[in-house]
Amino acid sequence: MSLFSICRRGALLLILLQVMFATYLHAFTNGKLWMDNSGKHINAHGGNVIKYNGKYYWYGENRPYVGFTTTVGVSVYSSDDLKTWTNEGVALSISNEEGSDIEAGCIMERPKVIYNKKTNKFVMLFHLELKGRGYEAARVAFAESDTPTGPFRFIRSTRINAGIWPFDMKKADRKAAMATDAGKWKDWWTPEWRKETEKGMYLWRDFEGGQMSRDMTVYVDEKGKAYHITSSQENLTLLVSELTDDYLDFTGKYNMIAPGGQNEAPTIMRHDGKYWLICSGCTGWAPNEARMFVSDKIWGPWKQVKSPFKGANATYKDFPASKTFGGQGTYILSVPETDDKGKTVTKYIFMADIWNPEHLSESLHIWLPINFDSEATPEIMWTDKVL
Ligand code: DGJ
Repeated sequence: MSLFSICRRGALLLILLQVMFATYLHAFTNGKLWMDNSGKHINAHGGNVIKYNGKYYWYGENRPYVGFTTTVGVSVYSSDDLKTWTNEGVALSISNEEGSDIEAGCIMERPKVIYNKKTNKFVMLFHLELKGRGYEAARVAFAESDTPTGPFRFIRSTRINAGIWPFDMKKADRKAAMATDAGKWKDWWTPEWRKETEKGMYLWRDFEGGQMSRDMTVYVDEKGKAYHITSSQENLTLLVSELTDDYLDFTGKYNMIAPGGQNEAPTIMRHDGKYWLICSGCTGWAPNEARMFVSDKIWGPWKQVKSPFKGANATYKDFPASKTFGGQGTYILSVPETDDKGKTVTKYIFMADIWNPEHLSESLHIWLPINFDSEATPEIMWTDKVL
């Protein structure tokens, strides 16, 4: 064999190894670290993915290796194929200004970015806790940018729907809520406390100052109307609130989902005319069983159905389907694709975090396909390979 052909074979082998290595790096495996273009685990948790001008953008909490308050802000990554992610840096940074709502030591969670076609701006909503106040502030915050990668400008943070009743709450139910007294209940979880809670005890307690807003998502319908869905009333009741046309405020129209049901981590999709809402229970960073609700309209009525998680072949620490395979949802990503016959078929991906409270930056990502069973009900099974 000539020297030339040995060199040629060597070069070919090198290329093959490079391709194999790149494929290995980017073939994301659920329940493992996911590397960005610089070989670092993707530090974007509790977030969402949008597509703009043919490119995907992934936003999420930039979490520290130790501790849980926000030291950086909200991260953004970009991708052409949902598999290879480039770190685009910090989309929204914490502030150095003392007294700012987003000064270092605050907690920024569950950021969601949506694009507003009318204003041509990118709007970020996120759960904000003020520095030094644990989780008691329970606010939603707004930020805006002209470009998908930011920098986003912080606008304000607020409790929501102050002084407004849910639009569909009957007069008699409002009266019953007004007769409750949250200050009276030292012991939670008793049947009497639960009854009062379901009557709207925390809705009434926070009526004047505004409703709490913690875990949250946003949904934009086909007409461009946006809705904020959040865990409110001490994480006991979900609220759906309509956003103004610029997505920078609330219109004041809102209602409740599953009062007293204790749902967190809301995620939502619309498929074949039905809205499906997939949430978690409330167990801090520990996984629990997902809950699912279905409705024909965003304003309900919502009916709770069985958890969509099924199957036994989970491989992350053997967390079963009844523990959401160890994860907690953050977003449902819709990916429209064209099939062989030229028809558009939407693929839905359930994005979740496997929290690692000791090292939050190393919390893992799981992206699982949402399929539909013979009754057109969503089902989610474990797969090792992502996409
Ligand atoms: C569960 C929530 O879903 C997370 O976003 C975070 O707030 C943790 N609780 C904090 O314990």
